[in-house]
Amino acid sequence: MINTVITVRPMSAHTGAEISGVDLRAPLAEQAYLEIRQAINDWGVIFFRNMALTAAQQLAFARRFGATEEDTHVSNMTGVDGLPEVKEVVKEADDVRNIGGFWHMDQSFYDLPSCFSVLYARELPPNGGDTMFSHLSAAYDSLSPGLQATLEGLSGVHIRAHADSSAMNSAASGLSFGDYVESRKRFAGIEATHLIVARQPESGRKVLYFSPVYTDRFDGWTRDESLPLMKYLTGVLGKPEHTCRFRWGEGSLAMWDNRAVVHYALDDYVGHRRLMHRVTVNGPWLEPC
Ligand code: SIN
Repeated sequence: MINTVITVRPMSAHTGAEISGVDLRAPLAEQAYLEIRQAINDWGVIFFRNMALTAAQQLAFARRFGATEEDTHVSNMTGVDGLPEVKEVVKEADDVRNIGGFWHMDQSFYDLPSCFSVLYARELPPNGGDTMFSHLSAAYDSLSPGLQATLEGLSGVHIRAHADSSAMNSAASGLSFGDYVESRKRFAGIEATHLIVARQPESGRKVLYFSPVYTDRFDGWTRDESLPLMKYLTGVLGKPEHTCRFRWGEGSLAMWDNRAVVHYALDDYVGHRRLMHRVTVNGPWLEPC
């Protein structure tokens, strides 16, 4: 597609692009919508700067791409401005828990996970607090034909409670064993099984649908059997060539396709507050290859 409205500036060979030429406060005209949609397909995640959006404007933008989700069931995030779909992702200056501080796709522990996430920066630390993204197709494409063929027969079991087990494993998090046990009880049974290799329906590309934290094991394998291969895949996702890193500014907005990228919120701004608003959007799910 030749863009006539937006300008797309790729951030790396595979992952992420900055978009300019459009004001997200106004309803998106059809051509702008189509070009933005194509940019997400091409780069997995896109970024806009200096948008000065209200929560209602962020929600209206997200709704252009599909039905937005409330997720009151398990979320540890609260809705803002009477808009239950606009969630606060906050880390206070003295918080030890960092939401999303590991490679993951949003809500992969549901049978139908979020398709898109739209994250807007409200308050930022003076430095740090960047978010990293890694492209699941770049990761898949980099594997040998032998490993690709092995993975195509597998599914992964994604477990909600693993978010806090990962925090426990970080010495800096300060999360107590009691917190961990509470979280295991609260989120017990929230899990889903997804193909490890699937096709993103709009780009047609194969993706490595794997999260180093939420994926507990390969379906039908024990966790001990799964861990060595999962450790290898974790290294593949984290390979710098597959990633981009976004430095947020006031009014920055990121929109990503959870079927195409994993993301990682860096926890390197101890003593400062960071407040983001997140909206998630439903859409067509990954297809078998
Ligand atoms: C998330 O994991 O959805 C939050 C990412 C971030 O705060 O950068």
